[in-house]
Amino acid sequence: MSKVFYVLVRVCSLREVPEDGVVRVDLRGREVLVARVGGNVYVTDVWCTHEEGDLSLGVLEGDIIMCPLHGARFRLTDGSVVEGPEGEPPDSIPRLKTYNVKIQGEDIYLEEP
Ligand code: FES
Repeated sequence: MSKVFYVLVRVCSLREVPEDGVVRVDLRGREVLVARVGGNVYVTDVWCTHEEGDLSLGVLEGDIIMCPLHGARFRLTDGSVVEGPEGEPPDSIPRLKTYNVKIQGEDIYLEEP
């Protein structure tokens, strides 16, 4: 059986992300969304899978982020589409990429294979 090794990539400090809020972080050219909701931290791609709306400018409703451009809604826990753009069905756009998160001390990391 082969083992899978992960690299931890530091994203930012917990202090940089407001509780029940989101920030956009540039990881050397790859931008991600970091959200804190109810004590949990989520990291996803920042660009909406419809037409690349900036989800860091969207509206956070619990663990769901709504795109500011056409209103698609994504669940931050798994990137699933709750509602497509302009009321279209969820399967009208791809799900949002999510990352495994590790908290070490005051810092947020994502796991990369
Ligand atoms: S770009 Fe996000 S819903 Fe259209």
